[in-house]
Amino acid sequence: MKISVRLVFTYIRDNMNNEFLIEEKGFDKRAIKHYEGLFCQGNGYVHVRASHEDSIYGVRQDDEYDRKPANVTLEKPRETLSKYGTFIPGVTGVHPYLKDEIINLPYPFMTEVFLNGDKVDITGNNIENYNRSLDLYSGTLTRTIEVVDKAYRVRICHERVLSMDCKHLALEKTTISLLEGKCHLGLVTGVDARVRTNGFNHLVKIETGKEADRTYLKALTNGGNTVDYRLRTAAKEMDLIPGADDSRCYYTGEKNLGGSCKEISLEKVVAITTDRDFDKFEDNTGLGYEDLKKNSDKVWAKIWDDCDIVIKGDDKTQQALRMAIYHLIRNATDDDRVAICAKGHSGEGYFGHYFWDTEINMLPFYLYEMPDKAKNLVKFRYNTLDGAIKNAKLYGYDGARYAWESSVSGEEECANWQYADNEIHVTADIVYAMINYVRMTSDQEFYKECVIPVMIETAKYWLQRMDKRKDGSLELLGVMGPDEYLPFTRNNAYTNKLVRFSLEETAKAIEKYNVPVERDFLLSVKYAAENLKGYAPLSDNERVIKQCDEFEEYADIDFGQIWTDRSKCFGNHISQEKNYRSKALKQADVLEMMMLFPHEFSTETLKANFDYYLPITTHDSSLSAYVHGLLAARLGRTEIAERFLKIVDDIDMDSNRRGAEEGVHIANFGGLWQMVVFGFAGLSYSMWDDDISIKPALPAGWKSLEFKTLYKGNKYKVTIGKDTKEIVKLS
Ligand code: BGC
Repeated sequence: MKISVRLVFTYIRDNMNNEFLIEEKGFDKRAIKHYEGLFCQGNGYVHVRASHEDSIYGVRQDDEYDRKPANVTLEKPRETLSKYGTFIPGVTGVHPYLKDEIINLPYPFMTEVFLNGDKVDITGNNIENYNRSLDLYSGTLTRTIEVVDKAYRVRICHERVLSMDCKHLALEKTTISLLEGKCHLGLVTGVDARVRTNGFNHLVKIETGKEADRTYLKALTNGGNTVDYRLRTAAKEMDLIPGADDSRCYYTGEKNLGGSCKEISLEKVVAITTDRDFDKFEDNTGLGYEDLKKNSDKVWAKIWDDCDIVIKGDDKTQQALRMAIYHLIRNATDDDRVAICAKGHSGEGYFGHYFWDTEINMLPFYLYEMPDKAKNLVKFRYNTLDGAIKNAKLYGYDGARYAWESSVSGEEECANWQYADNEIHVTADIVYAMINYVRMTSDQEFYKECVIPVMIETAKYWLQRMDKRKDGSLELLGVMGPDEYLPFTRNNAYTNKLVRFSLEETAKAIEKYNVPVERDFLLSVKYAAENLKGYAPLSDNERVIKQCDEFEEYADIDFGQIWTDRSKCFGNHISQEKNYRSKALKQADVLEMMMLFPHEFSTETLKANFDYYLPITTHDSSLSAYVHGLLAARLGRTEIAERFLKIVDDIDMDSNRRGAEEGVHIANFGGLWQMVVFGFAGLSYSMWDDDISIKPALPAGWKSLEFKTLYKGNKYKVTIGKDTKEIVKLS
């Protein structure tokens, strides 16, 4: 039966039961930073952490300190109750220790309230009935508190959104209601530039002032960008006076609450633009908060109509998955000069750098749900090909070598040499992702204009990066595979496979499109694709692929003895030196390869590898659990898959773990989506199969699973029940 789009939409809304509303469970001071990351708002253009509107007593956002490169997985974050974060992808600058990083920009949602002269402080002991929630359906963050005193009881409600309709607008509404007694209300609302990024001040000049009906703040960054905030407000029952100081622009107001005036409502619209915007935006709509918010809500609703996944029978995963989709939507960018950083622009962790996470973990969501956004991500890598060429040169090679950690130029920004030097698989991952995009969309123009040049340049690099043996075979030495706990290995199976695939595709493209290259080059590419060392099996089990040639020689680890506190990473229990010579994986490696090339491995082989690697994998990286869960589901090992599902669900959602403090793990969110779609629903991969199909293996408690997806130009609705499955073509 064909279901109309409208009907499906209504279905989802009627059954919503506030499933899109994620509530903070009471106020816990220790969880402020976690929720700042988890409830981060964004619209693809700008992202703002969910910091409280009122600053917190004793917490400075402009603390300067030395943050040096460290092993990021195990780094102990700086102790602070709260960390602002306002990020515009592409606005970056050089940090003294961390190379080029995304800049934490002035905070647009500052609103401080004073009652009888005392500033309201969320950590104060006069706060009651705290309630804060994020409505994923519209990206709206709402906080309500009551402030109590002998003389009054006042309710303060803040609501805010970054418009999905007009992406330059940050919208905020504050309603202050006198519930009992009387009091004098004062407030200041504005934009606050007293911020630092990883302890460093990137804002070299700040200009503030007033004009006709606005106040403004302009910041010049050390990356040479200007970021311009223009603020307008409207309040019933209260006069607002524009003002500005060295680092803030604002409006102030005051009022005696009591008698006939018991409530004031303040609307704030902040227009944010930079010198790097495509459009020259001017906020001249004249619309107020409610109308602008309605327009934004409509756009969000339309996106959810396409991207939502409805699970019946598992509320926890339903919530986690919607949170995942929310953050992926929030990061969908219209700008092919940027990608998505490892923290999904929700914190300063990983410095706003782009990793292979984008191509391997996040891209599938965009391919199947928002292919125009997927295009921007793969195009970004083409746009930064020059940076990759520079990287190759610095390492002494021709061609292009993509950065392990990239920023906007594509040059290497990883401050830790062992990853920068050895984790070379990213260069092949990018080609894999580009081909994945082309196979889904048939975008031949992109293939010819962007993919072929990337393949040719990266092939030049690979040809020189390989070492030839006497028997004519080729090897990749000194490699760190996805498993970052073995840094300098020989012939990492994952890396070699991805490189072979990339070279095979390059040779095919040269021949098919008569790409004008030297004949010798083509022959070398073909030779390398055929002779780069393939899989080597374990000595006592030929089904198991060795992670690298010397894998069996590494020391065995007694996990039970060493890893005594499982709430902490394994890496915290062992010195790096010992870890680097042991058989303990940080994350999926051979299994990751099997996930990416599903058609090449039989069920028996997959099972054998799964069983071998599972007990020695620590999942210290958040990129690991979903790979295991997805493969377990595809193997029909539903119980194991469910165990992993819980881990994946909790990585950011568990407020006791506080995983989102430095920003959410957006690759894990992309992984959760993949685990549900490719694992539990068993959707075919458009990379390998022309026709859409499903092979469900739902967890025991799930009653049903339904979602819409694009597949090679058509749109489908997939519905899976306990004993039923259906794919309906919608268009
Ligand atoms: C993982 C990498 C990942 C990076 C960024 C590291 O901990 O080992 O695979 O790319 O985090 O998410």
